[in-house]
Amino acid sequence: MESSSSILKELTLESVKADIYSRNNPTLTPIDIEFYATTVHRILELKKKHNAVILGHNYMEPLVFGLSEQGEQGDSLGLSMSAVQTDSEFIIFNGVRFMAETAKILNPNKRVLIADKTAGCSLADDFRAEDVRILKEQYPGVPVMIYINSYADAKAECDVCCTSANAEQIAMSMPGDELIFVPDLYFAQNLEKVLEDKKKILYPGKNNSAKGAVCEVHEKFSLEDIISIRKSFKINKEDPNRMMYVHWECKPEVLQEADYYGSTTQIRNDIAHRVASGNLEKAFIASECELTSNLMEEFPSVEFATACSVRCNHMAKISLNKIQPILEAIDSGDDLSQWEVKLSEETIKRASNPIERMLSLSF
Ligand code: 13P
Ligand code: SF4
Repeated sequence: MESSSSILKELTLESVKADIYSRNNPTLTPIDIEFYATTVHRILELKKKHNAVILGHNYMEPLVFGLSEQGEQGDSLGLSMSAVQTDSEFIIFNGVRFMAETAKILNPNKRVLIADKTAGCSLADDFRAEDVRILKEQYPGVPVMIYINSYADAKAECDVCCTSANAEQIAMSMPGDELIFVPDLYFAQNLEKVLEDKKKILYPGKNNSAKGAVCEVHEKFSLEDIISIRKSFKINKEDPNRMMYVHWECKPEVLQEADYYGSTTQIRNDIAHRVASGNLEKAFIASECELTSNLMEEFPSVEFATACSVRCNHMAKISLNKIQPILEAIDSGDDLSQWEVKLSEETIKRASNPIERMLSLSF
């Protein structure tokens, strides 16, 4: 995707503005660009001066997403991998708190900073270590795989972690015929269906008293919505030039209706592949709306339908105006504690095991 890498070389307010205009993002008006160019310029100037890494999740709004260079943008798996490869002292994480926590666990000696520590996630916020313990007691000896959308205390109780990019692969690499998956209840049912006959998936609420969680954004998509978008936007099932993309966190009946399902980067890569072969006209992505805003910029030849009432309010808390003060504080040597992710040594030690295990199976 278009990124700050080229403009970082010769950085002036004019070059920053020119770069943003040249991106031709249909969701950015000249009013937005003129209003925010000074802030973008200042952030990039300080990023360069302090050799800071700015990791940006695919759900960041376009101007925030553009602060990250190509290798700094991605899905949860890609950003975890980028986090272990950096040699910068400062990692600014433009995403939600569980993602910044993961970066900290992988880089205990670095300063990991997030623009708004209250940027949560309904999956992580509604699930605790206690729920993993209930399941482990009920199914002794069964390995536990935890979705990366969870906090360190819950991860610390589990054997392996996974993301939406590698859940099938990691599940199949675990020993035995059974696997506990937490906390996402729709993801669990989707995995159960995909691994039918290969592995039995046990999850919260299925013959047990543990409590799971769902993504408050993806649960908004109903089967009726998908069918009606297919109809109104003419994304016919049998037409390979028109694609209905769905994220793993959607309801099982929604996933079944997809032409393709995957992580945010896998969806992006499938679009790139189809565009390169010259055969993608229209697409809809049942996921957070800013993912589509960023893909509209990257793939101008594709006509995307959008559903911008579907926003993740947690991701939306990460704004340019909240990122700039972090870099100003780094520049002036001020206290960073309001942004810095802190975890105890013990938690880092225990939570790193499932994440490292996942990464060892992913690189
Ligand atoms: P990805 O890992 O696919 O980017 O998903 C993260 C997420 O929070 C989806 O809602
Ligand atoms: Fe969490 Fe859903 Fe937001 Fe992703 S979109 S961060 S799963 S609440």
